[in-house]
Amino acid sequence: MMPLLEITHLSKAFGGVQAIDDFSISVKEGIIHGLIGPNGAGKTTIFNLITGIYTPDSGKVCFYGGGENVITGKKPWEIARAGLARTFQNIRLFGNLTALENIMIAAHEYIRYNPAQALLRLPSFFRAEKQTREYCLSLLNAVGLADKQTEMAKNLPYGYQRRLEIARALALRPKLLLLDEPAAGMNGEESLELGGFITTIKNKFSITILLIEHHMDVVTSLCDTVTVLNFGKTICSGTVSEIKADARVIEAYLGSGGEVSFGGAL
Ligand SMILES: Nc1ncnc2c1ncn2[C@@H]1O[C@H](COP(=O)(O)OP(=O)(O)OP(=O)(O)O)[C@@H](O)[C@H]1O
Ligand SMILES: [Mg+2]
Repeated sequence: MMPLLEITHLSKAFGGVQAIDDFSISVKEGIIHGLIGPNGAGKTTIFNLITGIYTPDSGKVCFYGGGENVITGKKPWEIARAGLARTFQNIRLFGNLTALENIMIAAHEYIRYNPAQALLRLPSFFRAEKQTREYCLSLLNAVGLADKQTEMAKNLPYGYQRRLEIARALALRPKLLLLDEPAAGMNGEESLELGGFITTIKNKFSITILLIEHHMDVVTSLCDTVTVLNFGKTICSGTVSEIKADARVIEAYLGSGGEVSFGGAL
């Protein structure tokens, strides 16, 4: 399998904190690749570097989704347009907009009318709006929220808000989806249900997923490959059973006193 995303020698410091330190990863097309590590290991920072929110001090991010391959230093909207979408560790929805409107905002990136057509209310405007609406409704349907289209985002239960965020990311028609702790705050049952949902979405939309997750049962059931990070560096990378057996991983988690638990798996 070809890599879809390739990061080489990435580094980023914030003042005296070396958040990312010579980090490299190759994410193969069509898989769910886990990115795990104790709190503060640098996982979210890597997403922020990939998506252009931060600029790396050094290193390179290549995305083979068509178009230009090197995306280091590009603007977030250019990276999104190249086929890379994400969700956030802390849900970022427009609370006072409906579920459907939250998705339509993202989908307008692809709408096919110009400002003059919109201003003059030409037929092409209504046609494009209708198509976008139908597409967004199909996304709501795909994430199991078809009957919630008129609900304000802030009134949706937490698990539904997570699904809505994923639907909004899908509206960008990504090839690679970055999920930052989608099961955060969920209990064991809810997180496993979300895990099943993520697999369905991956297959339905033929996407590759880079997944940050603290729930080890989700990581275990979903990920083909896992990269373990600590202090901004990869400490090990491999299949779930390989990383679980690695003494450096066990030490990183035990040393951190972090919230991740391997349960009885070790
Ligand atoms: N904008 C910033 N300014 C200063 N320091 C930052 C900034 N963003 C991240 N850091 C620091 O970089 C390190 C990595 O943070 P990051 O949020 O990437 O960790 P994480 O692995 O996502 O942790 P968690 O599991 O708690 O979400 C931390 O020491 C954090 O305090
Ligand atoms: Mg984080």
